[in-house]
Amino acid sequence: HPAPRRHANDWAALKSPLRRFLDACHADFSVETGGAVANYIPELGKADPNHFGISLATIDGYVYEVGDSREPFTIQSMSKPFVFALALDTLGADHVESAIGVEPSGDPFNSIRLDANNHPFNPMVNAGAIACSALIREAEGDGAFEYIRQALGRFAGRELGVDEAVFASESATGDRNRAIAYMLRNSGVIKDDVSKVLEVYFRQCSVLVTARDSAVMAATLANHGINPVTGEQVVTPYAVSRTLSVMTSSGMYDYAGEWIYRVGIPAKSGVGGGILAALPARLGLGSYSPRLDSHGNSVRGIKVCEALSAHYDLHML
Ligand code: DON
Repeated sequence: HPAPRRHANDWAALKSPLRRFLDACHADFSVETGGAVANYIPELGKADPNHFGISLATIDGYVYEVGDSREPFTIQSMSKPFVFALALDTLGADHVESAIGVEPSGDPFNSIRLDANNHPFNPMVNAGAIACSALIREAEGDGAFEYIRQALGRFAGRELGVDEAVFASESATGDRNRAIAYMLRNSGVIKDDVSKVLEVYFRQCSVLVTARDSAVMAATLANHGINPVTGEQVVTPYAVSRTLSVMTSSGMYDYAGEWIYRVGIPAKSGVGGGILAALPARLGLGSYSPRLDSHGNSVRGIKVCEALSAHYDLHML
């Protein structure tokens, strides 16, 4: 007798253990309503606080998705590791490493404090990221943002757009970043016109991604710079290992110590509500939930990473 034909729903029921785990995370943490949507960039305050998406990409290119995994949000600080990697490859490590430190600051992401040389502590805080954008502008001039957008797209495996309203909103209100950029110009880290550098930085922060994109971007870092979905080598292994290093020590700002102690996976958050985590040679995780804690990290995103690390024993150490 021929086997009975399977209905599509039967296939859906045949979920892998990982898929069932991600579904359970989504269900368990959906009820978590702690934290608040960022509103210091006024436009970000319009995000739906209930959105919640999770995606996990393996280094063999399989992508799992749960919930609002295709909902677009602005990349914000999750752009920082990728632009740092791009700067290393574009300008050379010596140039970049002489301008930006690699020490955790222990300060919040928007701290105006610089290190003893009046350089940014590391490329994961705003000061360091603004310096990276300035370096890319040194190399690429007025084409700097487009160069960054294309590179972010290669990490994600698709062309990425910009949220113009968020860009305009941050440009209109970003005086703290303007102050940081002037301090960097004062110490010679920025040589360019401050407003031009900040235009690149604010645009880079306004690039739109989804949880799925974040997972693929993280998986590209986990996979030595090769996008596991497209097969493209996006950045060099040198740039990837240094980027994962600063994500490990500083990716979660003044929560970085607690993070690496409890979760043990290099990660980067953004005030748009994204968190991405890259476990070398294994996987990339992307989550989106815009309610943030006092450090500017997504509350549910932290829970997902903690649960994943604990359940599969993924702590690196
Ligand atoms: O510069 C800012 O303040 C924002 N464009 C990005 C900050 C951010 O995402 C911090 N992350 N959690």
